[in-house]
Amino acid sequence: MGKFKTEQEQFWAGGFGDNYIERNVGKNLIASNIAFFAKVLKNTTKIKTVLEFGSNIGLNIIALETLLPNAGMAAIEINRNAVKELKKNCKKIQVYPMSIFDFEPDKKRDFCGEMMDKFNNLKIVDYGFVYHRDTNFPNDDITWFLLEKV
Ligand SMILES: C[S@@+](CC[C@H](N)C(=O)[O-])C[C@H]1O[C@@H](n2cnc3c(N)ncnc32)[C@H](O)[C@@H]1O
Repeated sequence: MGKFKTEQEQFWAGGFGDNYIERNVGKNLIASNIAFFAKVLKNTTKIKTVLEFGSNIGLNIIALETLLPNAGMAAIEINRNAVKELKKNCKKIQVYPMSIFDFEPDKKRDFCGEMMDKFNNLKIVDYGFVYHRDTNFPNDDITWFLLEKV
């Protein structure tokens, strides 16, 4: 974690971020986070992975590990001292010690597959890609799927 481009990043990577770590401790906070996320997650099912943007020392992740013991946890965090504590607090977590502005997800999502897994009456009819430098009909880069309800 070297120099950062924006004031926002320098602020959290530096002294303010270091001091913030100490503000953020305690079992009461974890209890509150568990209560909070239990409400947030009540209508969800089968969550497999969680990625927190700006996790600090992991107080949300600790709560989420309690509620979702089988889900894989990951976090992006810019402050190196927060990262050290995060790794101690959450042993199994995948940590990206960097700015969220530089983060590139290494897991590709398969939206079509997710839809077909969720609704077993969907059949894939066609799929394709539109390229922004297409000679005749340029557009945004678009990946598309055509699904039919059967
Ligand atoms: C207000 S704290 C919230 C911490 C945690 N999410 C929680 O609820 O306890 C914001 C966190 O985001 C991190 N952060 C801020 N800007 C970031 C950036 N550009 N990239 C990665 N992390 C960042 C900070 O270091 C800090 O840990």
